Amino acid sequence: MHNQFSQYISGLEGGQDLFWSLMYLANEIKKNPESFYQAAPLKGKVMSALFLNPSLRTRTSMETALFRLGGHLNVLQVGGGNGTWGMAFEKGVKMDGMEAEHIIEAAGVLSSYSDALAMRSFSTMSDFKKDMQDQAMQALAQHSSVPLLSLESARYHPCQGLADALTIKEYLGEPKGRNFTLAWAPHPKMCGVAVPHSALLAAARLGMNVNVVHPPGYELDPEVMITAEQLAQVEGGSITVSNDLSAGCQDADIVYAKAWGSHLDYGQTAQGSLRNQEYQDWTLSSKYFDIEKQAFMHCLPVRRGVVVEDEILDSKASLVQKQAAYRLWGQMAILIKLMNQNF
Ligand code: CP
Repeated sequence: MHNQFSQYISGLEGGQDLFWSLMYLANEIKKNPESFYQAAPLKGKVMSALFLNPSLRTRTSMETALFRLGGHLNVLQVGGGNGTWGMAFEKGVKMDGMEAEHIIEAAGVLSSYSDALAMRSFSTMSDFKKDMQDQAMQALAQHSSVPLLSLESARYHPCQGLADALTIKEYLGEPKGRNFTLAWAPHPKMCGVAVPHSALLAAARLGMNVNVVHPPGYELDPEVMITAEQLAQVEGGSITVSNDLSAGCQDADIVYAKAWGSHLDYGQTAQGSLRNQEYQDWTLSSKYFDIEKQAFMHCLPVRRGVVVEDEILDSKASLVQKQAAYRLWGQMAILIKLMNQNF
């Protein structure tokens, strides 16, 4: 343990106290960024971030946050020719394939150069139950000797979840008791469940009435649903699930559209694409959404005309740019708490 909060890999570490202290600090930084930049709370601090997958927002906001607060981010693209050595994560694996380095050694080496580590490791879309164990992230957590931040795993995207909570709070003022619909959306590829999980937990933490709407077979991880229900109970909100997009959007103050793959199709991505095609009419459009009365959220990147119609995305109802902007303030707050013991 390095401080009260030595890892932030699910977003649930530290409970509601840490959540609200991050919300508060993120807003303090947003209100007066120059005072934080001058104070440089991360002066001389180095974080090393392993990226197993592509990124626009996460990578750029992390690099900007570290630089502005006086620190430095080592960005490591894992494998692929111009990156690090290909990396193995499973314990006991015989490394006679493409992977030349194991996370056990890499974690130790990077810990000796860095004040904190971070990693992005998406779902393999091959085994839902195994994915939900987040083995790659857990292996790095086990073998690193410095704090660790998740930049999205198979199960959670905690930095996105915090940015989403900050966006909702700014938009609604008091989110308690307001209606949040997490709406499944079509996509040409199978996507993971990390973003919907973290959005669900963010809305539950804020005491909202959350309606998760998806076609049959697209249920989220039952354990995450239980956690969301427990949070909702404590915060005075509720969680409901339905298969009717039209009814699910009707009374929503906010509709968060997101594609995710069916747990029935893990290991069979072709079948997953076919199943997605059955629900093409789930694209969020004016049939379901009222730009005069509702707000639209999405983590980005978003497939225009597939997940959501342009008329919503380009309207005043869209909060997507705010969500992306809050990534910077939220991550600055996380980084300060993670790497500066005085905060
Ligand atoms: N929302 C999000 O995490 O964006 P990137 O995949 O571009 O980092």
